[in-house]
Amino acid sequence: MGRFARAAAFSLFIIGLYTFYSVFVIPPINPGEPPSESAASGGPATIEELLALGEEVYNGKGACSLCHTRDGGRAPALDDSALAAKARFSAPGYSGKAADVESYLYESLVDPSAYVVPGYGVSGTDDRVSPMPGVRESSIGLNDTEIRAVIAYLQSISGAEITVALPGEGAGE
Ligand code: HEC
Repeated sequence: MGRFARAAAFSLFIIGLYTFYSVFVIPPINPGEPPSESAASGGPATIEELLALGEEVYNGKGACSLCHTRDGGRAPALDDSALAAKARFSAPGYSGKAADVESYLYESLVDPSAYVVPGYGVSGTDDRVSPMPGVRESSIGLNDTEIRAVIAYLQSISGAEITVALPGEGAGE
């Protein structure tokens, strides 16, 4: 065997070794059943998990509890936000688009200036501009699942019916 032939044989041997290793030694990746949407995103799969996420967002990433305190000093207390919501969207001065509790809470979160609770507007704007940042765009940056979770949490703490559907479920999709 010439030098070249030896080198070629050696290369083939190495390639063969790697091939053997990759085919027979490394365990195959089993595609199996595709994970469910919520499992894939690690999202809540039950109402309890949704509420737990909502509470976490409310006190953490959402920064809600920093402004919304029980005394309503800086922002309205949200203990009975679902009840308050009903009164808000049926009030004469209501300027938003919501027609039920869930959509009112949703609107309050993503488009706070759609309706400003009287007395809480940025000073000098005649209650037309809310000091609350929209939770989707601002640095708060909540995703859909987190927004749903926090709405469910608000409904829950105010003892209202939880109308929020789990992610990947229901009419809200
Ligand atoms: C920087 C302070 C601030 C932060 C942070 C904040 N809010 Fe607000 N929020 C306000 C103020 C002030 C109002 C009242 C003015 C208005 O109607 O937008 C308000 C209004 C609301 C309303 C309507 C209340 C009503 O009685 O009609 C809801 C619901 C609400 N916020 C929920 C939340 C949630 C949930 C979070 C966290 C994801 C949050 N807010 C974060 C200041 C804040």
